[in-house]
Amino acid sequence: MPLIDLRSDTVTQPTPAMRRAMAEAEVGDDVFGDDPTVNALEARAAEITGMEDGVFVASGTMGNLVSLIAHVPRGGEIIAEAESHTVMDEQAGHAVIVGASARGIPARPDGTMDPALIAAAFRNPLDMHEPRTSLIVLENTHAHSMGQPLTPAYTAEIATIAHGHGVPLHVDGARLFNAAIALGVDVSELLAPADSATFCLSKGLACPVGSIVVGSAGFVARARRARKLVGGGMRQVGILAAAGLVALSDGPDGMVRRLAEDHANARRLAEGLASLPGIVGLDPARATTNFVVFGVAVTDPASAAARLSPRELRDRFLDALRAEGVLMVDYPHDTIRAVTHYGVDEEDVDLVVQASRKALAACGAAARPTPATPVN
Ligand SMILES: Cc1ncc(COP(=O)(O)O)c(C=O)c1O
Repeated sequence: MPLIDLRSDTVTQPTPAMRRAMAEAEVGDDVFGDDPTVNALEARAAEITGMEDGVFVASGTMGNLVSLIAHVPRGGEIIAEAESHTVMDEQAGHAVIVGASARGIPARPDGTMDPALIAAAFRNPLDMHEPRTSLIVLENTHAHSMGQPLTPAYTAEIATIAHGHGVPLHVDGARLFNAAIALGVDVSELLAPADSATFCLSKGLACPVGSIVVGSAGFVARARRARKLVGGGMRQVGILAAAGLVALSDGPDGMVRRLAEDHANARRLAEGLASLPGIVGLDPARATTNFVVFGVAVTDPASAAARLSPRELRDRFLDALRAEGVLMVDYPHDTIRAVTHYGVDEEDVDLVVQASRKALAACGAAARPTPATPVN
């Protein structure tokens, strides 16, 4: 039985071109600045994002952390979406390591925060009771709104608010290239108003490891120093950077333009799932990047499954799906997430829809399909 793993785009395997490039990579000690492959990747990242410089880091979490260290003083405060990865899913690194508090603003269905709420969240620098607002963070694509992409116009609007208060704007662009492809704009256009960004190579771009932090030369120098502080100074890391250079290349081995396939597959998956009895809260038109997020509900209130808690029902659905060879994950707000990625094609998507139909019946959310009456 095929295993189709839609838990995340982080499960992607490196491409054959990446494996070749990794095996042949010219390397050196990167802490001394001697690794030519890392240097080439950082230069390419700066070029493609329109920023002055870049620094290769081990993960998106490390990228956000070193960016915060570089931007935010101890006792500072960041303004970020309340359920963003930076606030919710990085073990409160902003508090534990940076020494900053976070002011969470709720997301709207399109993944944006209301600019008026952001402006109102700034602290009064003259009041000695308050921390100093030191940074705004945007997440693009915005995960909890089913991967909605934030536009250049919105980014510019928030940058104007940040800069008007004398603070920088950081973009957690773990899936920034998905946003650019979905919106049909260059990544440099998305980042033009921002001061810094992290983007991940290890997600939709299919590299085995790594993220990049980009920004001004001064900011990147501080982030590079912070990377050493948190133990991220790696040595012959060109072995990993080589995969990133392939991912960001313009030629046939490049992984940026193919993200459009993941988006088309996510839409196909969303349309297939939304048509199944037992799947709720899924508007296929909202599948604009590579995330599909949905709920499961029991269609017959008189059935035994109607007595299960939402969590039990989802667990049963996920177990039944696994038995059919498909993996998805539980997600916040009583939902389930499926992520399309390199290695998953249209045919797989159709298999996932069939498997979901069976899993909905197996967990009791939907009635078992009546077997066709034999024709004599
Ligand atoms: C929006 C967002 N930011 C940051 C990260 C952190 O990336 P990593 O898992 O490489 O630390 C993730 C990971 O899923 C993410 O979804």
